[in-house]
Amino acid sequence: MDKLIIEGGHTLEGTIRTAGSKNAVLPILAASLLSREPVTLTRAPRLADVSTMLGIIRDLGAEAEQDENGTVHICAEGDITGRATWEAVRKMRASVCVLGPLLARLGRAEVSLPGGCNFGVRPIDIHLKGLCALGAKVRIEHGFVVAEAPPGGLRGARVFLGSANGPSVLGTANVVMAATLARGTTVIESAACEPEVIDLCDALVAMGAKISGQGSPMLTIEGVDELHGATHDVIPDRIEAGTYVLAGALAGAQVKVADCQPAHLGALLDHMNEARVPFEVGEDWIEVQAYDVADTPPRSTDVTTHAYPGFPTDLQAQWMALMTKADGLSIITERIFPDRYMHVPELGRLGANVRRQNTAVVVRGTPELSGAPVMASDLRASAALVMAGLVARGTTEVHRVYHIDRGYERIEDRLASIGAAIRRVSE
Ligand code: EPZ
Repeated sequence: MDKLIIEGGHTLEGTIRTAGSKNAVLPILAASLLSREPVTLTRAPRLADVSTMLGIIRDLGAEAEQDENGTVHICAEGDITGRATWEAVRKMRASVCVLGPLLARLGRAEVSLPGGCNFGVRPIDIHLKGLCALGAKVRIEHGFVVAEAPPGGLRGARVFLGSANGPSVLGTANVVMAATLARGTTVIESAACEPEVIDLCDALVAMGAKISGQGSPMLTIEGVDELHGATHDVIPDRIEAGTYVLAGALAGAQVKVADCQPAHLGALLDHMNEARVPFEVGEDWIEVQAYDVADTPPRSTDVTTHAYPGFPTDLQAQWMALMTKADGLSIITERIFPDRYMHVPELGRLGANVRRQNTAVVVRGTPELSGAPVMASDLRASAALVMAGLVARGTTEVHRVYHIDRGYERIEDRLASIGAAIRRVSE
């Protein structure tokens, strides 16, 4: 296993280029199984999760590889099996989104139930409700979801996919993908509106699917007989971009995050305005302006996470890291995954004054953090620890860096390119 060693306090300055979106490319990789023709994805990020999904797609019998430029080539022209094993699915929850494409193409799918993760149980009842609405028979057998289409195939339906926790991103993805080959029209109410769902729909439309309502809670999919191949350019990763913007803000550094889509980060930029962090926005970039964090710390600003366009849960830990050096008390409330606070005790080890109170965390800003060994956990919690290490006095070691590699391309190279003293060593 690797760890990252960070010497805090170095001046940061420069430009970081955003990679393609992990949470867009993973369902789009699954969608490629819907066609027998080649699918090419440009700007696909080079991440552990992408490699995992490519491995699953190869195990299912398709050709799948990522070239040196990051471009992914997939061809599922031959016979593919409909069974995704536990070994593969347990590594990455997102692999559950091969369920819809396999069911639509083969009429049957067996996908291992995804395990939980570091921030709680991750049910898939919304996924299964949607597939059943399309006529599938679904049962759980020996840890597998077994889904079978009716004779004649899936058929369009109207289905409500909301839950007490709001819409489901991958639940929407699974049902949209299955509906593209169903007979008739499907209307999904309370669909997820995330940019990554829009990008999936755009890729499916490029493959010949008939979808309308992208970005709204009401999606309409008119089933077609088959989907053809396509080339699709993956959208920039808004969470990666937001992470590096917040790293610049925490360090009070002039950091430009390029090749991103600021329109996907409205809630974050609104909160940064509230916190009085100086930044400018261009067509495809966000630039934090240098400021003296000690002299004029960010204003303590509460945040509550919500589905898009609300403040993203995937930036909650990173916002908490910023608030550890704010000018007072802030309250951070996680509404999507109530247990997504693995970073709290670890930030505490770095000297942050953070205290969990039921489903919220109270952060009291402190002038200084101090370096220490910390443990990475969920991917975004780990990014928050790296951010804190950049400004902590002394040395911070972030262990179990494989969590970070799932969602950030060579984070140490990107941060070193703007002046951070950070290096990866094997443990
Ligand atoms: C996607 O996960 C993202 N992952 C997550 O990003 C992200 O945090 C999450 O959406 C929310 O935005 C990918 O896209 C690969 P959900 P997903 O279904 O689709 C509940 C990261 O760090 N729910 O939208 O699995 C669920 O428990 C990852 O990149 C049900 O109750 O999340 C949660 O409370 C972490 N039943 C809420 O809905 C279901 O069937 C939203 O979950 C499904 C979900």
